[in-house]
Parts: sequence; structure tokens; C-alpha cells
Amino acid sequence: MSAIRRFMAAIDGVSGLGAAFLKAKGGFKARLAAVLGAAAGQRNAFAVLRFAQPRLGLGVNLVKPYPAARSLLLTTAADFREVIARQADFEVVYGPRMRKLTGGRDFFLGLQDGPHYRRDTAAMRAIVQPDDLEPVLAMARAEAAAALQGEEVDLPPMLSARIPARMVQDYFGVAMEREQLIADATLLFHYLFSDLGADPKVEAEAMAAKDRVNAAIDASVATAGPETLLGRAVAAGQAGEAAFDADGVRANIIGILIGAIPTLSKAACFAIDELLRRPAELAKVRALAAAGDEAGVAGYLWEALRFNPISPILYRRTPADVRLGGDDVLAGTMVLASNLSAMFDEQAVPNPNAFRAPRPWETYALWGEGLHLCWGDRINQAILPAMLTPLLAKPGLRALAPPDGEGTPFPRHYRLRFEA
Ligand code: HEM
Repeated sequence: MSAIRRFMAAIDGVSGLGAAFLKAKGGFKARLAAVLGAAAGQRNAFAVLRFAQPRLGLGVNLVKPYPAARSLLLTTAADFREVIARQADFEVVYGPRMRKLTGGRDFFLGLQDGPHYRRDTAAMRAIVQPDDLEPVLAMARAEAAAALQGEEVDLPPMLSARIPARMVQDYFGVAMEREQLIADATLLFHYLFSDLGADPKVEAEAMAAKDRVNAAIDASVATAGPETLLGRAVAAGQAGEAAFDADGVRANIIGILIGAIPTLSKAACFAIDELLRRPAELAKVRALAAAGDEAGVAGYLWEALRFNPISPILYRRTPADVRLGGDDVLAGTMVLASNLSAMFDEQAVPNPNAFRAPRPWETYALWGEGLHLCWGDRINQAILPAMLTPLLAKPGLRALAPPDGEGTPFPRHYRLRFEA
């Protein structure tokens, strides 16, 4: 039965790919890039792979900044979950670039499980207080209302990047000019996670950005109050917490700062972009938003991000030969575990191609899971609905142009119109 479901999904995938290819413009390569660059094309390609070649070996490393001998693309939900759960067999690779940004100190996303990882994550947990989120959410709601005064909004600079940047300033405690903070956090994120071709220009820009951000963190140490994560980290360091000596404060704060701004902004843009393609769903979510029902809106956002997540894969590398299912995976393989494909696996998700809000939370793999589950998990679940409910409540919401990263994977502009 499940083989038939996979087969039918693969047939749909082939026909979807063919139609998108014919509709795209340019020569063969340009069309292919356009089809596979879009989430819909990726979903179709993954449907074909789940049936025809669920573990696709490739003789080249597709993630150039981090050395590997080959790649292995995994498309089933079972493989995705197993790889992320077996963190000792499938290691995170980001360490070397992380250390370039911190001046040598590791940040916990670049570490495997062990004493250093546990010390730093425990110290970071200890400086978070239960009622920290309320002022952040109040700020997000007020900023969103202010951004939506007219009949038009450019989402990243006015709302989706601006709000997380204010969170970094007010709650993390990093004083830095906001536009520069947004630009630099985005460059650093690009360098660490999305620079698949190891572009020297991206590296040069990231090196300049990390100098500016580290200088801003150092300068903020003196002013950050006890309501900020930086202020609390410094106080804990002075009380003897080894995770928060001077290098540790800088590494941990730059790590969460990089994770916070481009991710939330891109997720906000992609969720809206997906909802605008679905008029029936948009009407339903607008009714919830108009009633101020953030929890109801959230269900639509997560489902929209299932169709259009900010990244379709997580990558890991094997330090030794391992077994996965019935197959050998050699040491030095870059394993590309697709969260997008996992969320559409017909063996794990009922009727995956239907937009159904809400689905059970376990359906989603939007910001990692297991050991490296996003540190912002709770923040994301609360702040995205807080940021976007006022926008979704607006009647006549439509896009004037698609999200535009100006050649980067991170939207810089996304202009929307609505009735005042
Ligand atoms: C919708 C917004 C976000 C998305 C899509 C997202 C995505 C992710 C993903 C996929 C991972 C796991 C990476 C891996 O396993 O290789 C991760 C980890 C992480 N994220 Fe986020 N993130 C978001 C927001 C945030 C925010 C707001 C913060 C900071 C407050 C943050 C900080 C981190 C940190 C520190 C880690 C590393 C956790 C660890 O290693 O234990 N992220 N995020």
C-alpha cells in the first residue's frame, strides 16, 4: 500500500517537474535551476527520489566549505530522523567556520555532544528566565502595528528583520546600529550555513562583519543590564561560570545573534509568500488574524513553512563508516538529510500534499530537532504569530513582487499592499 502511495506521488512529481520546466524561461540549465530553486520543484523532485532512489549517492561534496569525499542525499522521514538522532555517527560540521567568527572559541552548534557542549548549553539555559518572552512579544506586536499604518509594507526592513533585530538589541543586550546589525547577522549566517560553493567574496564580507559584531558585543558588556542575556552572561562569568569568560560571552552571544535575525525574517517572508498563493487558506487565516487568534494563525504559519521552509536540508558528516538502514555509509560522506522531503513523506504524513492547518506539531521539522534543536524554538513559536497576525488581519493583502534577496538567499525586500 505504501509503495503504491510512493509510486503515485512520484508520478505526480514527474508531471509537476515537467510542467514547471516547460513554463520556465531560458535554456536547459536556466530552466532546471528555476525549477529546482523553487520549493514546489524541490517537493516534486523529492517525491520522485523517495520512490526511485531514496538514498542518492553523489561522487562530489555539495557543501564545499566543509571537506568531504562525497555526498549522500536522504529523502525519507525515517532516514532524516535517524541521522539527526544519531549525532555521534552523523556529526555537525560547522566548527571551523564558527571558530573563524569567534576568534577561536567553539560555539555549541559546532560541537558534538560532550562536556563542552553541555556546559555551554546549560549556562545559556540558566540565563533565560521564564517571563523573558512577554516583553519581546509586546515589542513585536507594537512594531508590527506601527509598520502597518499605511497601505504598503516592505516586510524585511520594516517588520520581519526589524523585530528580531530589536530583540537582539533589547533582550540580548547588543547595542549596534540596526541596519548594520541586520546586514551583518545575515552575512554571517550566509557564511556559516548557506555558502555551499565556498565563495571567497562571502568569506571576505563575513570577516568584516564578524569584526563589527564582536566589537559591538565587547562594547555592550559595560552597558548591558540584568534584563539582557548579555548582562546576565557577564554576571555569571564574574561569578565563576567558565562558559562565560570573556571569549565565551562573545562566542555565545554572537552564536545566538546570527541564528536569530535572518532565520526569523526569511521564515516570515516565506510563510506569507506561501499563504498568498492559497486564496482559500488566506481567507481562513485572515478571519483568525482579525480575531487576534495568534494560536490559530500559528497553525497556518507552520503548515505554510512545511511547504516552503527556509532551508530544505540539514547536513552532517560521517566521522567513520556507519550503517544506515541496510546500507553502508563511508567515513567522510556529507549527508544531506532533507527536512522538506521528510515533511512530505507519504509514509509518515497523512495526505502530505494537502494544506491542513493545524497538523500535529510532530509533523514539522522546521528548525532542526534532537541535540541541536533550534535554541530559539520557543521564541519562534511565539514571535512569528505575534509579528504576522496584524499583517494577516489586513484585508486585500497581496504581494507587489516576490521576496527579493538581491542575489542572496535572504529576502531584503518583500513589498506587500493591503487596504488600510
Ligand atoms: C524561524 C526561525 C528559525 C529557524 C528556521 C531556525 C533554524 C534552525 C535549525 C534548522 C537549527 C539546527 C541546525 C542543525 O541541526 O544543523 C537551529 C539551531 C539553532 N538555532 Fe535556530 N532557527 C530559527 C530561529 C532562531 C532564533 C530566534 C535563535 C536565537 C534566539 C536561534 C538560535 C539557534 C541556535 C543557537 C542553534 C543551535 C542549537 C544547538 O546546537 O543546540 N534560531 N536553528
